[in-house]
Amino acid sequence: MLWNAAARRAARNEGSVADILKTDDALDAALAILARGGIVAVPTETVYGLAGDATNGAAVARIFEAKRRPHFNPLIAHVADMAMAERLAEFDPVSRQLAAAFWPGPLTLVLRLKANSPIHPLVTAGLPTVALRMPGGFAHELIAAFGRPLAAPSANSSGRITATTAEAVAADLGDRLELIVDGGATPVGLESTIVKAEASGVRVLRPGGIAADAIETAAGVRLLREATHGIQAPGMLASHYAPGAAVRPNAQDVREGEALLAFGPERIEGAARAVAVMNLSARGDLREAAAHLFSYLAELDRSGAATIAVEPVPSEGLGEAINDRLARAAAPRDGTDAGD
Ligand code: TXA
Ligand code: MG
Repeated sequence: MLWNAAARRAARNEGSVADILKTDDALDAALAILARGGIVAVPTETVYGLAGDATNGAAVARIFEAKRRPHFNPLIAHVADMAMAERLAEFDPVSRQLAAAFWPGPLTLVLRLKANSPIHPLVTAGLPTVALRMPGGFAHELIAAFGRPLAAPSANSSGRITATTAEAVAADLGDRLELIVDGGATPVGLESTIVKAEASGVRVLRPGGIAADAIETAAGVRLLREATHGIQAPGMLASHYAPGAAVRPNAQDVREGEALLAFGPERIEGAARAVAVMNLSARGDLREAAAHLFSYLAELDRSGAATIAVEPVPSEGLGEAINDRLARAAAPRDGTDAGD
């Protein structure tokens, strides 16, 4: 293998080391890992992605966990064909035209999530929209064979440079993965361009592998470059997953009229008076808790309680991202979240 000795040593210190298989030999192994909810680093034409089943909350939680210091930014769901895409999201005419022009390729479309979309809410961070992309090459083949969308952020840990070779993935994440699929250096080397069709034109949310003017030409509509609507950058999402109810993290008791978001086997004082209770993970498993977070907050919000008391969640591993999200839900603000 080509990856460097320092990375190999670091990985060995942590125990396990990822297998690295060339694309020609990797399909069956990658499918087996995905089928049991595991994650695999795969090449796309843009950058390497850290892929997991986008319909499986535990698999998506593993992605965030592997990125360390995780923030639950919404992830791109990757599809193999239009039929799969249309099961997940609603296409407006301009988005359909852009998909026809650029897919498979380095373009991501932000679309309205379809009712009953099988995409897990951890992928969308609870947003009513989903970012979709149809990649080419090995990733495309893998999704087609798997038959389900793959959530895949760039295969780098938080704060690290995006990986465009299998060696770079191995040096960064080799101790946290079972399998890295080696497709050589990615041809584009830059993440996809993310756009969203709006009434007055196509908004560029992230510049990337397809030039904006090519998009303007293909769409036949104006490009909107300034983000005036305040969502779209990873750091500006707080208000979008804040529930209607107030959120009281790290609660030591449950007060009259409150709903309870529990964690672990033991309840805080006054839990019996909660108007509704959901437990993120009865066995205290942070991965399971992460997978439940957005949907359980929404469910408790529907109970009509004015406040959701949240039991303490340890700030280790995925707990850091869970607490980050809870804090933002408690005090929505225009923070500058670290993107990843
Ligand atoms: O080329 C790429 O796009 C690579 C490869 C692996 O496909 N993926 C990638 O994913 O760059 P990631 O997670 O590093 O970046 C995804 C971006 C984030 O900035 C996120 O905020 C944005 O997509 N995003 C995802 N869903 C969104 C949504 N519903 N609305 C607005 N932005 C969204
Ligand atoms: Mg990234």
